Amino acid sequence: MSEIQIPTDPEQYAELVSRLLASHGFTVTRPPEGSRSHTLEIERDGNRLAVLLKNHKAKCNVAQIEKFTDFLESPGAERFQAGWMISASGFSKPALTHIETSHVKRLNLWSQVGSRIQRTYPPSDGALAEQQPQPRTSRQMYFGIFTCKGGVGKTTIAAHLAGAFALMGYDVVLLDLDPEKNLRKLFMQGPDDEAPSLYVPSRTKGQPGSTITVLNHDEWEPSQYREMQIVICDCSPVLEQNPAGLVERFDYCVVPTTLTPLGIAKNADVITRTFRHIRQMNDHAALFALINGYDPSEAVAKKNEKLLQHLARHLSAYIQTDPLCRFIHPDDAVIRFSTTLQYWGFHLIDGTKPQLAFSEQRGKSHPRTDFLKLADYLEDHTAIEELRRQER
Ligand SMILES: Nc1ncnc2c1ncn2[C@@H]1O[C@H](COP(=O)(O)OP(=O)(O)O)[C@@H](O)[C@H]1O
Ligand SMILES: [Mg+2]
Repeated sequence: MSEIQIPTDPEQYAELVSRLLASHGFTVTRPPEGSRSHTLEIERDGNRLAVLLKNHKAKCNVAQIEKFTDFLESPGAERFQAGWMISASGFSKPALTHIETSHVKRLNLWSQVGSRIQRTYPPSDGALAEQQPQPRTSRQMYFGIFTCKGGVGKTTIAAHLAGAFALMGYDVVLLDLDPEKNLRKLFMQGPDDEAPSLYVPSRTKGQPGSTITVLNHDEWEPSQYREMQIVICDCSPVLEQNPAGLVERFDYCVVPTTLTPLGIAKNADVITRTFRHIRQMNDHAALFALINGYDPSEAVAKKNEKLLQHLARHLSAYIQTDPLCRFIHPDDAVIRFSTTLQYWGFHLIDGTKPQLAFSEQRGKSHPRTDFLKLADYLEDHTAIEELRRQER
């Protein structure tokens, strides 16, 4: 296979791919002027397809796929039998997990490999098993979910971020550092369950699924769980109650907040205090403020914008002093308000078995999409930081 140089200019890339598609018998045209939803329109054997090209260095992420899927489902897009996304750098693991778990129809993903364009989704039968070996990280990655304030979603976020990684094929440990032990209670399979856990079946037939294991911090011994690649800590709101040895290991720390006027007035200080606290014990973790319980509806868009500006202003003084700290804009990643998350834990009342709040409603699961998107953002963002550090 001959290697070709992928042009960095989108226009040149579009020309390159157009030639490739034309050589396969497609008639290639450009969409109407000003259209940003797709790059090319192609036709063969009476089938019309919308093609979106991405020639970024970074892999395509969940947000980009969501945007294209929304376009395919929008009025007017019925004239396309399907949509193709062609990426010069492939697709992120969370993005592929999102696609495979949400069974998006009329969407094909293609990746450029050398001078060829290979189908990534839907995968051909043989390619599937090949494509999804258990993912491996070079070492255990530690995530802390922490804020000095209670009731903003720490436990919910810790559990479902674990769920997103499990869907991606990782075995995950959830460490319950909060004296309230909510995480433990929520994963117990019965009142006497001393080792709470959850099995997340694989999205690929014939492949083993992943495990989520809940442990108290005194049960955690990294060398005994070498197969566990992701460790997520649901922290105590009292920083000093969290074992220093664990906080030191955090690679990422997520600080959840809500976007309400009272929440922000009080919370902006809480967040910066939380960041400072963590920094005293850990100088290398990437720190992220994340909005939880977000309402993305048009009716409150203006209010949200004002609240976001207010919060960003409050956090900026600290963030400017700390290059590894970010306020995640909801466009990039956010946990939306969701009734399945709100009622998560109902099994404690009706005695059913625990499960994550990833069940679908009308074919969609907002929590599942949001947490995969968060995993995507964290991974991508820290990779960039890593590059910057190397450049320095
Ligand atoms: N995104 C969300 N949408 C709806 N309800 C949520 C969301 N996040 C958290 N909740 C609800 O808010 C409450 C507090 O969340 P929890 O995770 O227990 O917070 P913390 O651990 O910080 O005290 C829980 O009842 C949970 O179900
Ligand atoms: Mg909690």
